Amino acid sequence: MRRTVDWADGAVVIIDQVALPREYRTCTLRTVDELVDAIRRLAVRGAPALGAAGALGVALAAFAGSDVPGAAEKIAAARPTAVNLRWGVTRALATLDDGPEAVLALGRAMLDEDERLNRTASGHAAQVVLRECARRPLRLLTHCNTGHLATVAWGTALGVVWHLHERGLVESVLVDETRPLLQGARLTAWELAQAGVPHHVQADGAAAFAMARGLVDCVLVGADRIAANGDVANKIGTYGLAIAAAHHGVPFVVVAPESTVDTSIATGADIVIEERSAAELTEFHGIPTAPAGSDVFNPAFDVTPASLVTAVVTENGVRTPQPTP
Ligand code: MRU
Repeated sequence: MRRTVDWADGAVVIIDQVALPREYRTCTLRTVDELVDAIRRLAVRGAPALGAAGALGVALAAFAGSDVPGAAEKIAAARPTAVNLRWGVTRALATLDDGPEAVLALGRAMLDEDERLNRTASGHAAQVVLRECARRPLRLLTHCNTGHLATVAWGTALGVVWHLHERGLVESVLVDETRPLLQGARLTAWELAQAGVPHHVQADGAAAFAMARGLVDCVLVGADRIAANGDVANKIGTYGLAIAAAHHGVPFVVVAPESTVDTSIATGADIVIEERSAAELTEFHGIPTAPAGSDVFNPAFDVTPASLVTAVVTENGVRTPQPTP
């Protein structure tokens, strides 16, 4: 598969994640406004992929010679929760004095780095899973999409599945559909099918019951921001999964690059959670799914307290949370 985010002929090229699984196609983004729109629509999404897209967006602005700091702020603010987006933008901005080619060189280097770090992080996490779980082959449960499509390449939590599958150690993956935008059903199931990994898509509400029935050896998720104390912001529904996993004694492993850790934030209570439009819940492809005018609560992410997490694993290995002062 091609990279999720790339640079070609003076433009940012992304795999269009809104079109999947109907169609595998790319989108060419030539301006900062087009990139910001793609980020808001989730045509490019997932914390590490957003970091790379943010950096290349600054290169777009630098070549356009417009107000680069202003454009950079617009990109960084397009989605507030995944810290990687602002991190990628800030890294790219720091090279601006050396000219647009230097910004682009940094962006390109970040593409290579992303794949390398995520392979390493997920390799460490695979070892954690093998230590924590006695059963072979493994039955894994995952939420949202944390694969190739959420990164530049390879993936974080789903990267663990690739490592274990290569060794013949995966019996099956339970894929939470991930309401309301179905990143699990649309994207994770698509990636698993491409890779020939046995899997079942389930409603998010089926996860706790699957654990109660003893069908899950380990839960694997990614993260959008990890606070200094180890609290984890991730796709809405992750917190409920962690509670169910703790209740049933199922290990709950978080996999992310170090760039997702935000040590400026002491606890998850300080993480800004994106709220998205009511229409994501009240309509499906224009067909009403709730009475007209229903009030809606639609947070895109939730926060899982560190106490419910078995391990946060990055490219540096298992992280030790810093207690709140
Ligand atoms: O709203 P999304 O699809 O960008 O949310 C993505 C997630 O919550 C992922 O789990 C997270 O970014 C980690 S991706 C490796």
